[in-house]
Amino acid sequence: MEVRGIGTPRLEWVGDCLVIGLFEDAIAFTEELTELDQKLAGTLTELIAETEFKGKEGSSAIARVGGGSAIRKIAVVGLGKPEALKLESLRKATAAAIRLSKKEKCKTLGLSLPLGHNEAALTAQALAEAIELTLHQDTRFKSDTENKETKLEQIDLLGLAGQEDSIQRARQICAGVVLARELVAAPANVVTPAFMAETAEAIAHEYGLELTVLEKAECEKLGMGAFLGVSLGSDLPPKFIHLVYRPTGTPRRKVAIVGKGVTFDSGGLNIKPTGSGIEMMKTDMGGAAATLGAAKVVGLLKPDVEVHFISAVVENMISGRAMHPGDILTASNGKTIEVNNTDAEGRLTLADALVYADQLGVDAIVDLATLTGACVVALGENIAGMWTEDDAIAAQLTQASELSGEKFWRMPMEEKYFEGLKSVVADMKNTGPRPGGAITAALFLKQYVKDTPWAHLDVAGPVWTDKEYAYNNAGATGFPVRTLVNWIFAEGSGGEG
Ligand code: BES
Ligand code: MN
Ligand code: ZN
Repeated sequence: MEVRGIGTPRLEWVGDCLVIGLFEDAIAFTEELTELDQKLAGTLTELIAETEFKGKEGSSAIARVGGGSAIRKIAVVGLGKPEALKLESLRKATAAAIRLSKKEKCKTLGLSLPLGHNEAALTAQALAEAIELTLHQDTRFKSDTENKETKLEQIDLLGLAGQEDSIQRARQICAGVVLARELVAAPANVVTPAFMAETAEAIAHEYGLELTVLEKAECEKLGMGAFLGVSLGSDLPPKFIHLVYRPTGTPRRKVAIVGKGVTFDSGGLNIKPTGSGIEMMKTDMGGAAATLGAAKVVGLLKPDVEVHFISAVVENMISGRAMHPGDILTASNGKTIEVNNTDAEGRLTLADALVYADQLGVDAIVDLATLTGACVVALGENIAGMWTEDDAIAAQLTQASELSGEKFWRMPMEEKYFEGLKSVVADMKNTGPRPGGAITAALFLKQYVKDTPWAHLDVAGPVWTDKEYAYNNAGATGFPVRTLVNWIFAEGSGGEG
């Protein structure tokens, strides 16, 4: 399938399906559209009237065009209100156009959408991202992989001639998103800690990144008792992954991305009961998957920023050797933790990963983790939580997420709630009371970062979707690889600088 930007006017485009983006409540035709409508013997006005098409975001309609025309079908996709037009509206419209043309068995598609952000490059990138991500289908675990659907062969982005670089950039970014999706979607009997380490090795080898994988003994030497405590119940050895991308020349910034990598979370001895979604806990390495996805993109795009990709990868299981509820672990910064719940394992693995990242002397750390069900309860499945005391990082991440369309909501780092983690016997417990569970999780992590500017992203909701929406098909979404990439590339993606 080929995607290209072309300068051909809508009136002259030839192919199976021409898709036109229309704003809500502003279906008034330009001269050019009136001319197109006349050329199509009024099919466009009829389609809009018959389907009561109003231009609402995500809506679409399609009609067959009578014989002898240069196009077989004409479709309209809604863009919502013009003043609210975002790159994300264009991605959604593109996804709607793709789904429609696949259903209608079109091989060639002409996509005519307005510019977002008044910028051809960003628009072409957004459209190409939506195309790649909507068309990505994961059939690795199906025995019948023969695709009987009509395949789209050519997609023309009208009005976006000369945007090949943006389209290429979108492809490279989506390669990272797809890697994250595939790691999350694959089951825990495939994606083990060793598999994650091998994936990091493949990235290091292919793009020339530096890789260190700390084995259990080395983690012991570093005193990573919190991370290793989680690994005790599993037969699979833990792997501490540290990938480094160093630009040629002096880096403009140094940042670290730390992802939770629990390849399966049974809950440990505080085992997850049936109905708790235990069978979905293969997705508990979504943070690490996005970290490796971002590493792949960084390897491809080569920014002038030094980036450390870190994950303490482990499986949370039960056995005669598993940590007991009530065990006291000592993290690599010397703090002791009373494990009052073995199912709050993510923060234990992140504690040692954050201490490690903090010692690298980077300008900023962002961690991402499928950390709490409480965050999903608070924000739903499509919005991730963001905790940081650093307004500069919050602003950078917010801007990065506005460009990517991946949603975050800043949450309070309410110091007072740390009281809920007070332990009689150790420095802290790993879980507090149920109310504010996502906040106490963030406060727990805070104990392991000294003074590097830091943000914590709880992505438990958005890494997976049970039904398709926008450019996500049902399954793993690859959230938030594109936000991470935007953040890495952002001006001054460090602390205050
Ligand atoms: N991996 C889970 C969080 C999670 C829940 C991710 C649902 C995706 C969907 C995490 O390790 C966990 O079990 N958290 C507990 C914390 C509790 C024991 C304080 C939770 O959220 O219930
Ligand atoms: Mn858990
Ligand atoms: Zn977990």
